[in-house]
Amino acid sequence: MTTNKASMIIDKDFQVGEVDKRIYGSFIEHLGRAVYGGIYEPDHPQADDQGFRTDVLELVKALDVPIVRYPGGNFVSGYNWEDGVGPKELRPRKLDLAWRTVEPNWVGLNEFMDWCKKAGTEPMMAVNLGTRGPDEARNLLEYANHTSGSYWSDLRISHGYKEPHKIKTWCLGNEMDGPWQMGSKTAYEYGRIANETAKMMRWTDPTVELVACGSSSIHMKTYPEWEATVLDLAYENVDYLSLHQYYGNPKGDTANFLAQSLGMDSFINTIISVCDYTQAKKRGKKKINLSFDEWNVWFHSHEQDKKLEPWTIAPPQLEDIYNHEDALVVGCMLISLLKRADRVKMACLAQLVNVIAPIMTENGGAAWKQTIYYPYMHASLYGRGTVLVPLVKSPKYDSADFTDVPYLEAVAVHNEELGEVTIFAVNRHLEEPMPFELDLRSFANCSVIEHIVQENDDLKAVNTAAEPNRVTPHKGGNAAVTDGGKIEASLPKASWNVIRVKV
Ligand code: AHR
Repeated sequence: MTTNKASMIIDKDFQVGEVDKRIYGSFIEHLGRAVYGGIYEPDHPQADDQGFRTDVLELVKALDVPIVRYPGGNFVSGYNWEDGVGPKELRPRKLDLAWRTVEPNWVGLNEFMDWCKKAGTEPMMAVNLGTRGPDEARNLLEYANHTSGSYWSDLRISHGYKEPHKIKTWCLGNEMDGPWQMGSKTAYEYGRIANETAKMMRWTDPTVELVACGSSSIHMKTYPEWEATVLDLAYENVDYLSLHQYYGNPKGDTANFLAQSLGMDSFINTIISVCDYTQAKKRGKKKINLSFDEWNVWFHSHEQDKKLEPWTIAPPQLEDIYNHEDALVVGCMLISLLKRADRVKMACLAQLVNVIAPIMTENGGAAWKQTIYYPYMHASLYGRGTVLVPLVKSPKYDSADFTDVPYLEAVAVHNEELGEVTIFAVNRHLEEPMPFELDLRSFANCSVIEHIVQENDDLKAVNTAAEPNRVTPHKGGNAAVTDGGKIEASLPKASWNVIRVKV
């Protein structure tokens, strides 16, 4: 007999908030084979006339990614954006000190904007506040967004881009608290430069939305004092604070690995508190919201990356091959983002292709979906609407890092327009299926559209070029409406579940 029974109550009127679709964003950095060999490979048989891989574009489009961060990451802190515009034959090759590679600048701002259009997405552009500052940032913005009649906007036009790109979302640097960052700063130094840059960018284009760097992770010594100091200095001129977090399972403790999203919950809640504290201190009207613009599992490639030759173009860096349990952690992290949809307005799965990514490619060869592709796709496709307060009752366990970890992690999204409620649920139990009961209270005449399940007897199962479909979801989940109008299902052990209900 199982003791693992869990239940959830949702009500149409008990709402967390609207999902901003930008929480299903992703990230392309000039790093490893994300750009060269990932989105761009002119010699590939499936490259289009601009050199973009159409097989990769198809996989990206199927995810319906609303926003893609670019060009870094650590890379941006040493990047001269001018190197990436204008005639390709004149673009310089430069050393990238962040990843110890050679950057050929075959792709830059304008090509990336073309790719975004083809992929049906928007850019989230980052400016270099490491080796550079407000002047270069405002020049870049003038080049990208100003219509014409100024040096930088006319230069863009001379490069063949008559229309301004109208880039709305901008990151003020990247992980400026990290000593690994070129030009890293103290919170005070960063808060001052972020504020001055933000002011000048707003004066250049008042329509922009600006993201200030929060801590690189909760493990930074300066967390969360960093956020308080930065916001104190820049509150008036920024709109979002960034969060970054990666998880790993180096010791093979799966129960503890699956519990890591509890840390993400508390990270999000802490940063919301800091934002609200600053608002109160400033007697401000403006709420600062959250941009969780780097999140994922990242650890599989750490050892192999130490062996790479430095100073090559597009080496296979950060090429984590994701297994089934990684997909469950990604599922839990997506649920964490949704549970605070009221304040997390943007988020980027880092990254999109080849580099800690849901999509993998071979140079000159195939492109395929990693295990983490599917939960990300399900959330992006079915997780739009209003998040409902998830009242969850679940048995719990203790792990190495956390106590009271619920076996059931779940959230529900109501899409009123489509008349659908979607439940995303992870059964963290590694041995037992979970009898699950859902009480939909105010929703009448419900019927189950489908119950998608991603499960695997082997937690370490992966997809590869040779075996791209070893871990895929199936639609054979058994969720069904009971006579009493509730929904019951058995959630397989260690599984990701998507229960779509017509309401
Ligand atoms: O996404 C990989 C790297 O992780 C990014 O460049 C950096 O911002 C973070 O440390």
